[in-house]
Amino acid sequence: MFEAQLIVDRDFALAPLDRRLFGVFVEHLGRCVYNGIHEPGHPTADEHGFRGDVAELTKELGATIVRYPGGNFMSGYNWEDGVGPKEQRPRRLDLAWFSTETNQVGTHEFMHWCRKIGIEPMFGVNLGTRGPDEARHYLEYCNHPGGTALSDLRRSHGAEEPLGIKFWCLGNEMDGPWQICQKTPDEYGRIAKETAKLMRWVDPSIELAACGSSAYDMPSYGVWEDRVLEHCFEFVDYLSLHSYFVKPPVGQGSDTSTEAFFAQIETNARYIEDTVAIADAVATRKRSNKRLKLSFDEWNVWYRARHGEHLKQAGWPEAPRLLEEVYTAEDALLIGGMLTMMMNHADRLKVACMAQLCNVIAPIMTEPGGPAWRQTIFHPFAQAARWAHGEVLRSVVKSPGYANARHGELPYLCASVVDDPATGRTAVFLLNRHLTEEMDLSITLRGLGAERRLVQAEQLHSADLNASNTADAPDRVAPQPLEGIAILDERLSVKLRPASWNVIVTQAIRAA
Ligand code: AHR
Repeated sequence: MFEAQLIVDRDFALAPLDRRLFGVFVEHLGRCVYNGIHEPGHPTADEHGFRGDVAELTKELGATIVRYPGGNFMSGYNWEDGVGPKEQRPRRLDLAWFSTETNQVGTHEFMHWCRKIGIEPMFGVNLGTRGPDEARHYLEYCNHPGGTALSDLRRSHGAEEPLGIKFWCLGNEMDGPWQICQKTPDEYGRIAKETAKLMRWVDPSIELAACGSSAYDMPSYGVWEDRVLEHCFEFVDYLSLHSYFVKPPVGQGSDTSTEAFFAQIETNARYIEDTVAIADAVATRKRSNKRLKLSFDEWNVWYRARHGEHLKQAGWPEAPRLLEEVYTAEDALLIGGMLTMMMNHADRLKVACMAQLCNVIAPIMTEPGGPAWRQTIFHPFAQAARWAHGEVLRSVVKSPGYANARHGELPYLCASVVDDPATGRTAVFLLNRHLTEEMDLSITLRGLGAERRLVQAEQLHSADLNASNTADAPDRVAPQPLEGIAILDERLSVKLRPASWNVIVTQAIRAA
């Protein structure tokens, strides 16, 4: 057993937490859409073919925004293929995933699904094979009230009212050699600027995200951000980040240990901080007070189902099984730690999308005609999305730590605290990275109300870090009650099991 402390103070708030930090991603890829969220023959399917069981799990996950329709798919997509009578929609070769796209799900079907879930859509425009002209037309089709050819076309397709899609991504991973029509930073920066300009003229109420590099460890990282923003800084609201956590982690040699795996939390913190620094340097150069926001619109663990037939199958199949990563308890702990880190960057990080939602590197898995179940990573996401409301407080962590090749000494404790003055509730999120020892933790919640009552306390822990949830055993890894929390005035004390993710929610009975 070892001792650790977490201290927060009501007066030391970092920023309001943007609830769009709990976003997800639905791409036309593998079985994410077809035979995932959409399976017309399934016993739970609605009149549009969307599975009711997946819809219920998505609500339980608590996702607030969903990115669509890609990903790499976006860079070859013709939005016109996915609107109008279904029987007239073309079948196309999808060059991103070497599959056949049937276009049976398109803009209107996806918007129906968003409304059914109660989730905000985040759409993207194709800046690979297409460009500004297509983007302005797509936006006009979606958001213009009526009286023009495109907005009236939408109305003739059954959507009398504008779709009101507010958040738009300007392409996807345009620096990647795998991207359909990869671009140089100057080519992309110019196109992003001109596209943003036209889109804002069509609908000034939208928010726009430009593509950052497709990963922190891309050779293009840094120079890409700087050059792209040189062109489009004044025209966009967000810069995107993408990160997939791998084993062994980048920059840590061949170290496949869990401790090194968990150090990717710090790697991604650096990624965010470095990106903020670059954006602010561009602002300085431009004599601008603007502070660009970040959209971490792809993030997850992805290293097992990442090669060979997991990426590409012969014969241009429809909805093949691609990127179907099976997650472990170890992955769920890293996801929990990542969530604490992202909350702790809430001053600049406003949007994030776990990639993806269903079957494809996903918290929800399905079998055609069969069940849907929660992967291990579902749980920390759902807990954070449920309880993190209000303002993120600056956490002071005092904890022993371990040595890491890339980052030096790392504390065993990762923590974030979110306080909601409206309800008096304070949610504390905790990862004990020690693999064998219990943590004796003291939590001080200064100025948040003298008397507190416990609202909820749960832990996620598995004796076997390789344990996963399957169709046969869907709840092998699931949260359990966290017992033994002592509350004395402003202090909570609790023992956290080794290798555990924990959520403690308390509520002030009397104001401070
Ligand atoms: O999420 C899977 C793929 O990963 C996305 O299509 C792409 O943007 C990224 O490289």
